Amino acid sequence: MHTQVAIIGAGPAGLFLSHLLKEKGIESVILEGRSRDYVEGRVRAGVLEAGTIDTMERLGLAERMHREGMVDNGLDIRFNGRTIHFDLPAMTGRSVMIYGQQEVVKDLIAARVNANDPLIFEAPVNRIEGIEGDKVTVHYEHAGTAKTLTCDYVAGCDGFHGVGRASMPKDVLKTFQHVYDFAWFGILARARPLHEMTYSNHDRGFALCSRRSLSVSRLYLQVPADEKIENWSDDRFWSELHTRMYDTGNEIVEGEVFQRDLAQLRAFVAEPMRHGRLFIAGDAAHIVPPTGAKGLNAAVADVRVLAKALGEFYRNGSTAGIDTYSRECVERVWRVVRYSTHMSALLHRFDHTPMDRNLQLADLETLSRSRAAQTAIAEQYVALNSVKD
Ligand code: FAD
Ligand code: DHB
Repeated sequence: MHTQVAIIGAGPAGLFLSHLLKEKGIESVILEGRSRDYVEGRVRAGVLEAGTIDTMERLGLAERMHREGMVDNGLDIRFNGRTIHFDLPAMTGRSVMIYGQQEVVKDLIAARVNANDPLIFEAPVNRIEGIEGDKVTVHYEHAGTAKTLTCDYVAGCDGFHGVGRASMPKDVLKTFQHVYDFAWFGILARARPLHEMTYSNHDRGFALCSRRSLSVSRLYLQVPADEKIENWSDDRFWSELHTRMYDTGNEIVEGEVFQRDLAQLRAFVAEPMRHGRLFIAGDAAHIVPPTGAKGLNAAVADVRVLAKALGEFYRNGSTAGIDTYSRECVERVWRVVRYSTHMSALLHRFDHTPMDRNLQLADLETLSRSRAAQTAIAEQYVALNSVKD
């Protein structure tokens, strides 16, 4: 089998890339290691930035998002029992959309499958050969048989543990990493959510009340990195959430918990994001702590830059965009990492000395008094990953 662009991974990065390439008349094949059910069932991010919303619309894939997603105009940060409210349209002219990552993934897979465009599930890639030559060979397995796919270019959209980044020569790749010693314990519950997306900094740790619909809440608590989900009964979770959200009445509505997951917090950047005929995009190249909801949006921005570069190449033979892909993405990625680590630092409890804790509270106090400081956060929340197509 031969294609113009082989895409490894059917997460947001790989799926968006396939649709953006198709828009430009470029063929691709997606190889995904897991099953369709597994990929569609993976619960992760939920906040779509303006650029991600625009991309869904432009690709004609936004119909269900507009029907079932929720336009989110506000953001609250609580500390010391007080609330800082961010009015996103007033501060930025834009809003974000609450629409679960797995719903985005379902819509993109359905469109690809309905168009009969190649997307092979349960096809793990184990080796990529020839990235420094004229033609690439991707080795994968399918239905117990070893297979190959040849291509002009290969895109490693295969997440943090994928084969894409691992195929970059060791002397070419530079990596930067910070691993946090706490994690987010997340649940989905059948319960009416708070009206606003609400982050809270409490003496007992960080909490976040988000949502997936008018009747489903997505709730997170900061827990130690080595925490076990079994240690959290539903009662313990609700009681801790009420406390950390300064909810003395019955503001937070409890309900049946039907999903529990633990996400480790990490900041990671790999440079460059291209070597020869291999590109890496999304979590394969960078991970941000989830505070600020940037991971998915950064992945979509990467592949918009990549699709534009490949579009120019196939249209007029220019490699200008291919040559600048990494530089253009990495500059933005560091700003995304800066924002996400800043929001994490502002909102979580660390192993603080009393001095550090008071400085953190002073930062929140300053934020609460300055519309300019609030606007800086709102601008980045809404459109940090804006790129030109
Ligand atoms: P992925 O979604 O990881 O997709 C990569 C795909 O490649 C996967 O389907 C994988 O099966 C496939 N793959 C891997 N190796 C191979 C191989 N060798 N061959 C073939 N296929 C392969 N972000 C937020 O903004 N907010 C959140 O609340 C949030 N929560 C998260 C919770 C968890 C547990 C995790 C892991 C991430 C979370 N993120 C969150 C981050 C966000 O979900 C990611 O940034 C986003 O999924 C990145 O998309 P991607 O396509 O780059 O990678
Ligand atoms: C959600 C996730 C985030 O990382 C965040 O900062 C806000 C909301 C969510 O899953 O809804």
